[in-house]
Amino acid sequence: MNEIAVGILGTGKYVPERRLTNQDLERMVETNDEWIVTRTGIRERRIAAQEQATSDLAYEASVQALKSAGISAEELDLIIVATITPDMFFPSTACLLQEKLGAKKAAAFDLSAACSGFIYGLANATGFIKMGMYRHVLVVGAECLSRITDYTDRNTSILFGDGAGAVILGEVPEGRGFKSFKLGADGSGGELLKISGGGSRLPSTEQSVSERRHYIEMNGRDVFKFAVRVMGSAAEEALASAGYEKSDIDLLVPHQANIRIIQSALERLDLSEDKAMINLDRYGNVSAASIPLALAEAVEEGRVKEGDCLVLVGFGGGLTWGASVLVW
Ligand code: UT7
Repeated sequence: MNEIAVGILGTGKYVPERRLTNQDLERMVETNDEWIVTRTGIRERRIAAQEQATSDLAYEASVQALKSAGISAEELDLIIVATITPDMFFPSTACLLQEKLGAKKAAAFDLSAACSGFIYGLANATGFIKMGMYRHVLVVGAECLSRITDYTDRNTSILFGDGAGAVILGEVPEGRGFKSFKLGADGSGGELLKISGGGSRLPSTEQSVSERRHYIEMNGRDVFKFAVRVMGSAAEEALASAGYEKSDIDLLVPHQANIRIIQSALERLDLSEDKAMINLDRYGNVSAASIPLALAEAVEEGRVKEGDCLVLVGFGGGLTWGASVLVW
């Protein structure tokens, strides 16, 4: 019996209405629009309303994805939410989402691989479907990074935003779907990007909060160097294991962290900038949500045609990375 082909049946996205522009940030920290645009490519980010949490953003994106796949929530067998900003420690955001959607039949869990979480989620979902355990899996990347961002730190506050992207995975015609996954981790770089407070190592206390340990801490330069190295190599390895060449790529859908990181990946893959989906100018870095948000927009904008070869590639805290070759 041939292995079944697994691919994307529908996509969805959601971003909150409120915009935080570079001009707004100029009033909050010692920075300026020119520095942010030239060093990162970001112009504005979206910020969740006070009453919104990650599961609310995930819900909106998921409803759209279900609609575009033409299936109902009751037909979902599994929900995976990749996030570093769950509504709460537990229950998982995936369980909260299952309830909101009324996806009664679905199992549900969260996945923690920072900005690589969505690719890790796709690999998990594909494995479950290929082994015949599930038919329809909802994979969501959703974040409210504004809740863990220190708006007195110019090193991080200019980067992050809120949003969600979702896809439904299921069987697709032979020849299409996911051709390979390449996942990786290097725990030795964990210190470069982290939130140290609020966990079992350093539970929240007045002191931990006053030391701002509940916010993201980042060594930007070292993360940058790691990202430049790993984006190209992960994409190349995913291509090689799928039996594809760089020249086969129709669209690169990279993690949206920094335009210079994306440009270096394009250079390594011999691709021009029009071969990459880029929306970080409008949303900033939305961690696990950034790849599905970019993918959903690429689909919306008609940039993805049947039979196109897509490479999804991301990196993030952990350190982690992931890449996948997908024939649409
Ligand atoms: O999803 C993964 C999450 N993280 C990332 O992807 C981060 C990857 N890293 C980066 O994107 C970049 O390292 C940053 C955008 C964070 C920083 O850019 P950079 O080109 O690496 O700048 P830098 O840290 O080397 O700083 C250069 C200068 C420094 O001043 P001096 O020491 O040269 O006088 C900084 O203090 O720029 C200064 N600087 C700023 N100036 C204006 C740092 N942040 C800012 C700022 N506005 N917001």
